[in-house]
Order: sequence, then structure tokens, then C-alpha cells
Amino acid sequence: MTRITVTVDGASYTDEVEPRMLLVHYLREVLGKVGTVVGCDTSNCGACTVHLDGRSVKSCNMLAVQADGHEVTTIEGLSTNGELHPMQTAFHENHALQCGYCTPGMIMQAVDLLKENPNPSEEEIRVGLEGNLCRCTGYHNIVKAVAAAAGSSQRSDA
Ligand code: FES
Ligand code: FES
Repeated sequence: MTRITVTVDGASYTDEVEPRMLLVHYLREVLGKVGTVVGCDTSNCGACTVHLDGRSVKSCNMLAVQADGHEVTTIEGLSTNGELHPMQTAFHENHALQCGYCTPGMIMQAVDLLKENPNPSEEEIRVGLEGNLCRCTGYHNIVKAVAAAAGSSQRSDA
């Protein structure tokens, strides 16, 4: 077992973990952060996307021990003081989900995308989300939601 200390959604956790434990399993099974989901386990679907030090990563694609000393944000830590993150609001308002399984990962990836490119074209949004699969194929509204979130953050910057 290896001792790790990780900040997750603003709280610090120290745990003994198996060196082979995946970050997604640490989040879900040890910390109970079940908002982060597993869709494939082969780093294809993006359902497990979280932020590591502010950048999106697929948490099934890294070990919990690799997060030692780092800061992880999951979908559960995205809202502040009970207020939804603008990307969560945009997904809600644009009906950008069907079964909802891909949604946590989509939102985490989309937030990182706008951080990198605050004013993306539709094409850039599609490329930015290409590592995230929606089995319900609701891509049209997902792209609309990301564009809406980009627009609203620009208005609030103005
Ligand atoms: S569960 Fe991680 S990419 Fe599918
Ligand atoms: S909404 Fe069902 S997988 Fe995307």
C-alpha cells in the first residue's frame, strides 16, 4: 500500500491505496465521489473526466498514486456556494443530456476547453470534445450548450 495525499473538490484526503488503483476507483470507491463515472475503462469514452490541477484528464487512465500532492476537481466540486457552474446551467438550459451518463465528463472537458479557448467555433467545440462519447448521440445540444456557456462568460466579462 502507498500513502497519498490528494486535494479533491477543495478537501484534503490522505489514504493508503494499492499502487495499481486507478484514480477513478479511488474517487468513487474510497471517497464516494460517484458523480464521476466509468463508461469503458479503456480511456475511450471520457465519462470519467476530472480536472487535475485545473486541466482535464481521464481518471481511468491514471493511477491514484499519480495524483499524490495534486488537486483534483470532480463534477461534484464544480458548483460554488450552491450555485451551478455556468457550464452546468448551459447544459440544463440547452437540454444537453438524455440518459446523462456522459454528462459529468462532457462538462468537465467542456470547462477545460473554454479555459483554453474562450471563444471556440462550432468546429473547435466538436474537436475539443472528440475524446468524450455520448452513447445517446446527443451531440447537437451538447455543442449548443458549450457555445452558450462561452457566450455567457463573455457577456459577464464585458
Ligand atoms: S471510463 Fe475513462 S475514458 Fe471511459
Ligand atoms: S446523454 Fe446518454 S450517453 Fe450522453
